[in-house]
Amino acid sequence: MRKPLVAGNWKMNGTRASLAEIGEMAKACDATLRAKVDVMVCPPATLLFPAAALALGSAVSIGAQDCSPLGEGAHTGDLSAGMLFDSGAKAVIVGHSERRADHGEKDADVAAKAAAVLAQGMMPIICVGETRAEREAGKALAVVARQVRGSVPKDAPAGGFVVAYEPVWAIGTGLTPTLQDIADMHAEIRRTLARLLGKPAAQATRLLYGGSVKPANAAEILNLADVDGALVGGASLKAADFLAIIRAA
Ligand code: PGA
Repeated sequence: MRKPLVAGNWKMNGTRASLAEIGEMAKACDATLRAKVDVMVCPPATLLFPAAALALGSAVSIGAQDCSPLGEGAHTGDLSAGMLFDSGAKAVIVGHSERRADHGEKDADVAAKAAAVLAQGMMPIICVGETRAEREAGKALAVVARQVRGSVPKDAPAGGFVVAYEPVWAIGTGLTPTLQDIADMHAEIRRTLARLLGKPAAQATRLLYGGSVKPANAAEILNLADVDGALVGGASLKAADFLAIIRAA
């Protein structure tokens, strides 16, 4: 059985004043919820340390949004996986479509970052997803399968990483694919992982859906067979919305 994971991606949002939301989430995630669902918040790097201190001992774990594939050295402005771990992160989002678009990250870069995260004993949340043009051209399944083959490290351990399917056109737009399209894509991702790493590893891997997940649509999406949780952007900034999605999971 794969335990669902609901992860919040705060993107470039939040200052110390926002920590109160994480405090509220930590307080509300009681033992009953904790037994049923893993909860994670990925604030900007500036908030990792205080967020991790605040969430310590609660059901909420803290993750980062990106990292360098390199260990240390002359790379001004970059943060290593080791630094993020030292700040209290348990996971790192890699290959988010905004990083692929804004920073030209390719599948090979994403795989290198995921490998750095794994080497540090953390869990990479590896993001994939097609553009609107690719979906309209009927290429979504092929594009995402190719991204999975290129972005998941060849020696990724069973259960040690997560794949998040986030259609680019659904992020922050209020649009979502049909439930059938989400189900088809998640099945395709699991088949691709099985070919890549073997069936047991594919079965152990949690596949998250992301892109305009809200309290109103969370239950029907999370109910799909191959959907093992959600990566939530906008609706993870406020404790009330995020908690509603966690309860749906
Ligand atoms: P959204 O973002 O929930 O605001 O659409 C999801 C994401 O980019 O992870």
